[in-house]
Amino acid sequence: MADLLSNWSSTLEAVPPSHCIPEHERPSDPVEIGDSIPVIDLGKANGEERSVVVKDLLKAFEEYGFFQIINHGVPVDLMDEAMKVYKEFFSLPAEEKENYAKDAANNTNRGAATLYSSSAKHYDSEEHRYWRDVLEHSCNLDGEDKKTWPDNPPRYREVIGAYGDELRRVSKVILGMLSEGLGLETGFFDKELGQRMLVNHYPACPDPSLTLGVGGHCDPNLITIIQQEVYGLQILKDDKWIGVQPIRNAFVVNSGLPITVYSNGKLTSVAHRVVTNTTESRTSIGTFICPHEIVEPAKSLVGPENPPQFKPFHWGIDFMPHYLSKKSVYHASLEPFKTEAN
Ligand code: OGA
Ligand code: NI
Repeated sequence: MADLLSNWSSTLEAVPPSHCIPEHERPSDPVEIGDSIPVIDLGKANGEERSVVVKDLLKAFEEYGFFQIINHGVPVDLMDEAMKVYKEFFSLPAEEKENYAKDAANNTNRGAATLYSSSAKHYDSEEHRYWRDVLEHSCNLDGEDKKTWPDNPPRYREVIGAYGDELRRVSKVILGMLSEGLGLETGFFDKELGQRMLVNHYPACPDPSLTLGVGGHCDPNLITIIQQEVYGLQILKDDKWIGVQPIRNAFVVNSGLPITVYSNGKLTSVAHRVVTNTTESRTSIGTFICPHEIVEPAKSLVGPENPPQFKPFHWGIDFMPHYLSKKSVYHASLEPFKTEAN
């Protein structure tokens, strides 16, 4: 039973004890909503200024691990429609959502749509819960998984199918530039990569000081592309949380842990969290691009002067269970794969 927050939170006048997180994790200090997070204009990526954009993008990956992209070519109507579809989905009647709300821990079919509440797959064993519901499913190029996606709202598969195609294109543009900026082997990310929709719904919360939408974490995948319209996302920069101001029609991009390995330690993955608010719910549409099956430092970045800082590992078999099995605190899930050079 997924016990979805969106089914019952609107009647609450206080945060129930199950959702009050430990004091040290609570969002207590005032947080600046920064405009310092880089904004990259992808419209310039194919013109004379490409080399400048590539340099800026690499710098953004290096300094922040987070940036926003504008002029990415995804039609605004499609972005708006996708957001509408997800808002409608999360406001469906409880019985309807239960069709998708499987026990995530026992859902072995990783392609199929899964709806769950709180932080992760181990809902029943969690000591406390975060203030969110999540809809997750694969979004593969062959379209085979589409029949497992929700069919309510009735236009879900059509809209999200088109959205997934557009976001795949955008991810290739970003990864192409990243590869160029790092000086990786030509075509390093050209192989078809796994893609997943992970959509968070954070209902309005009676007391945002007691809980979080999701606690601080680094993403386990290669890059994440987020569409947001309501503020809530914060990143940990130089030991200080800063807020990411939503920009209309932009996407937020961030690097996941495998980027540190591919870049042999040159790039990092930045911890982030989501705060709630009392007045409105927040829906964020996440496109998660997965790494190659085997993750290892790029050959072009290692040599006698630069020994590999990580051992090769199988992302699905070695890394993911480790990432999911315990509360992986920020970068800790990379520890077992470090070499002596690191
Ligand atoms: C995530 C995440 C951020 C957001 O799902 O991993 O960090 O803005 N989401 O909802
Ligand atoms: Ni995340």
